[in-house]
Amino acid sequence: MVLKPRVVLIALVCFQSFVLQHFAAAQGAAPAAAASEQRKTSEPYTGDLSIFESPGRDERLQINRVIEILGIAPGKSVADIGAGSGWFTVRAARRVGGSGTVYAVDINSEAIRYIGARARKEQLQNVKAILSKADDPQLPPGSVDAVLLLKTYHEVAQPVTLMRNLRAALRPGAKVGIIDRNGNGEDHGVGRDVVLSETKEAGYKLLESYDFVKGDKMDYFLVLERVE
Ligand SMILES: C[S@@+](CC[C@H](N)C(=O)[O-])C[C@H]1O[C@@H](n2cnc3c(N)ncnc32)[C@H](O)[C@@H]1O
Repeated sequence: MVLKPRVVLIALVCFQSFVLQHFAAAQGAAPAAAASEQRKTSEPYTGDLSIFESPGRDERLQINRVIEILGIAPGKSVADIGAGSGWFTVRAARRVGGSGTVYAVDINSEAIRYIGARARKEQLQNVKAILSKADDPQLPPGSVDAVLLLKTYHEVAQPVTLMRNLRAALRPGAKVGIIDRNGNGEDHGVGRDVVLSETKEAGYKLLESYDFVKGDKMDYFLVLERVE
């Protein structure tokens, strides 16, 4: 039997696609990134870090309620991705105490230096600062029980890849919080629906959704969990 070259080519392409799909499934990998990766994002903030320390921010954000919802308690291990000045890092570090750990993750080396100095000054030995990559938080595998991206997701240039790379750092049942503001991506906000669709693509499911983080209802607080 003589096969035509075109038939052989089609058969080869189908076989390759089958092998790739099954290899990815066997590795437990989330589906590959799609066009959502190219959407508009905001420039990562590089200005004065004291801007994040505004008086009354604890009350406006109801940060203690956020901490409770994420299950942040003594002994837990937490990541603050896009930590900035470390505003949330220090609050989480006080809550988890000496037997817990808070990873302060940021792509800005000035923020990492600032947080290191702040943790020393505030005698918080449980803070570990990580200078990360734009598409990878670079957390140790199986290292965290809870994660918060506070006013950061809209700046993440490759959100699906970053969220996919975060998966390996999550312990079973870990909660991932995203607090952001509705917007078009480049105006310091990103649509709640966009976040939900990208995180689904990266292998997460929505557990809870809140709008108490700001009175104007423009801000949202999503709680996600890794899909196994
Ligand atoms: C608007 S600031 C918010 C700071 C802090 N979360 C707060 O609300 O006080 C966003 C921070 O995210 C950081 N960032 C942007 N893209 C990032 C990425 N892909 N991975 C980690 N950090 C990122 C920026 O460097 C900046 O410090």
